Amino acid sequence: MLQTHDTVDIIRAKRDGRALTPSQIAWVISHYTSGEVAPEQMSALAMAIFLNGMDRAEIAHWTQAMIQTGTRLDYSGLGKATADKHSTGGVGDKITLMLTPLVASFGVAVPQLSGRGLGHTGGTLDKLESIPGWRADLGAKEAYGILASEVGAVICAAGADLAPADKLLYALRDVTATVDCVPLIASSIMSKKIAEGTANLVLDVKVGRGAFMKEESQAKLLARTMVDLGSDAGVATRALLTRMDVPLGCCVGNAIEVEEALETLGGGGPADLRELTVALAREMLEMAGLPEADPATALDNGQAMDSYRAMIRAQGGDPAAPLPQARESAQLKASQSGFVADIDAMEVGVAAWRAGAGRDRPGADISLGAGVRIHRQVGQEIMAGDVLFTVYADKSARLERAMDTLASAATITAEAPLPQALVLDRVLA
Ligand code: URA
Repeated sequence: MLQTHDTVDIIRAKRDGRALTPSQIAWVISHYTSGEVAPEQMSALAMAIFLNGMDRAEIAHWTQAMIQTGTRLDYSGLGKATADKHSTGGVGDKITLMLTPLVASFGVAVPQLSGRGLGHTGGTLDKLESIPGWRADLGAKEAYGILASEVGAVICAAGADLAPADKLLYALRDVTATVDCVPLIASSIMSKKIAEGTANLVLDVKVGRGAFMKEESQAKLLARTMVDLGSDAGVATRALLTRMDVPLGCCVGNAIEVEEALETLGGGGPADLRELTVALAREMLEMAGLPEADPATALDNGQAMDSYRAMIRAQGGDPAAPLPQARESAQLKASQSGFVADIDAMEVGVAAWRAGAGRDRPGADISLGAGVRIHRQVGQEIMAGDVLFTVYADKSARLERAMDTLASAATITAEAPLPQALVLDRVLA
């Protein structure tokens, strides 16, 4: 039985910079979820938190209170180690498509609950839905069955009963300018990840102009806060800070990202995709008790690809079926010779979104074939007249808008740029 509180006292306390008690936090989250705390009151509280922050204990209690509004899944009966990855989101980030079957191919169960894209960053479920027959909506029982089987990997939508308080609060933060606040982002992400039931978690915290966190110091603070939250809740958690100034890989969209994931799963693909997939897999495998496992070899020898095919089939998909293609395409060529010195992730993400690959409101239709292909990555040489980008869209008006957005996305210079590290830092418990 929760002790009763007055919502206005709770708002006033945070407005005046005081820490909230565990009892106040449990009460306000539970009563907001049941509709007894009004959205305008929660908006005021979210803004007070945005302005005055929360300490480590408050964030931990806030996260636990959100978990308690729903169910916490439990995979301890599987009899195998579990590991999962969460990315804070970036342009061309298709890592989950390779990483999930790759790690599962070593006998680790990977329960990967994923989301849909909104705005300039894509969603894993949208990408996988370009595979004919593939289903994102598995019930908890079906997902458990797949994890217990030889397949050992699922990528699916989170059920409605996974931290429902976060769904309500996230929608409210979205319209009250309270999204980009470390305590609220960390508790939002970690309430879902802890409730999901994995024992080991690796966070890919993106930094740069194509990411939520533009500054490394902010990204590091977010990573540290999430690692502490996971550890306090009994989930072994680590984070990698990774650069998101330029798109990951060469394809941004849905079906074309699946195509590129298949290349990487087959031992090829762009070097940055392979590097990050292997780095995250090493962390997950080490945490799952397999420090000697060699994920790079598993990409090269077909082990990861076999695991991918089994995972897709287990969710009704046909891994051999042709992928959807857009009706139209157009090419943007380099106007001068030199080296590609920069490609702005944000502009490429927005171009792919304008081409129809993303949505501007939840539930809107997307074009599975739409997107942007990058023909030369940063550091590569290019001649005037060579193709730099191909844009795919179903409608010519969309194609034109995407081409306009891309016009200034790349910078070509006479000198080759200095190589930049992709993995910037590692945050351990
Ligand atoms: N992703 C989430 O799930 N929550 C946030 O607050 C931000 C990103």
